[in-house]
Amino acid sequence: MVLLGIETSCDDTATALVADGRDVLASVSTNQDAFHAKYGGIVPEIASRRHVALLSAAVEDALGRANLALPQINGVAVTRGPGLIGSLVVGVASAKALAFALGKPLYGVNHLHGHIFAPFLDRSDPPPYPFLALLVSGGHSQLVAVESATGMRIIGRTHDDAAGEAFDKTARLLGLPYPGGPELDRLAQRGNPRAHAFPRHRPAADSLDLSFSGLKTSVRYFLESPAGRDAKHEDVAASFQAAVVDVLMARLHAAYKRGNYRAVILSGGVAANSALQTAFRTWSDRNDVTVFIPPPQYCTDNAAMVAAAAYHQRDVARVDPLTLSADPNLPFEFASLA
Ligand code: KG4
Ligand code: ZN
Repeated sequence: MVLLGIETSCDDTATALVADGRDVLASVSTNQDAFHAKYGGIVPEIASRRHVALLSAAVEDALGRANLALPQINGVAVTRGPGLIGSLVVGVASAKALAFALGKPLYGVNHLHGHIFAPFLDRSDPPPYPFLALLVSGGHSQLVAVESATGMRIIGRTHDDAAGEAFDKTARLLGLPYPGGPELDRLAQRGNPRAHAFPRHRPAADSLDLSFSGLKTSVRYFLESPAGRDAKHEDVAASFQAAVVDVLMARLHAAYKRGNYRAVILSGGVAANSALQTAFRTWSDRNDVTVFIPPPQYCTDNAAMVAAAAYHQRDVARVDPLTLSADPNLPFEFASLA
């Protein structure tokens, strides 16, 4: 069963062809960074216009790479939310038109469920249920208990900034170019993570929730202080990154101890962070936990994960090509997807 995946929830115009929710026949992602960089962040209007300009060619590109023609696909999977409304609408409208014209089934996917299926791509041993997911991206940071393909529950979430947002905002304070997360990661590799003791916030003692805005603010105050003005930026980057990783790993460990999980997965753009990956692997060795981290191209936004989610959720994700609508605030719980 080959599904065409379409993902346009934010600023990546992505298409993919995936067989049986696992084998990636093609995955194409056109990055719009050059168009947003001079504004220091994503401009929603520019993002939707770029999707309009790029999407048809991205579909053709994926088909060409997979050596398939449109009539050979078995259905279309599209991200219907959450995300930027103008961006989502472009993908949803295209997917509806394609599915309707081809007479093939259409599947509506929650972007965050997509991230959870990223570790299923291109591997013969997918994560066994039930597993725990740490989903850390530019828009979301949450811990999810995954009982089955459609039985997922958020057990911890950020009260303010997402982890990726904290990386991007702190990178900006350090004068790094947009998008800042990967830049800060690179800079931190040359710094001392113990140079500065930034706070490790915890919203409530027994909670699995996260908070990053206080950390970002304390980096800002530090940089404005006399000591901060002389501090090496690579040390500040490494110390900030260490605080984020500590907070994420502490919450992940607590969540793991509370459940009965057979595996733990890391997903979302921040899963590509080198310090987080190292800490995660060390933790898994120490606690004898089976872990999964998707390769970098499936950690960040992509359409292969959307096609995979649609395949695994196909019994309930099927939607009517005439009535599907984008939902920028699509709730996480599966029941409300129908
Ligand atoms: O999953 P994603 O591509 O898009 C969202 O759904 O948000 O995540 C993008 C986020 C950005 O905030 C980016 O700075 C961050 O992931 N990111 C990283 C790294 N690579 C991407 N943050 C820290 N270290 C990285 N290596
Ligand atoms: Zn994402």
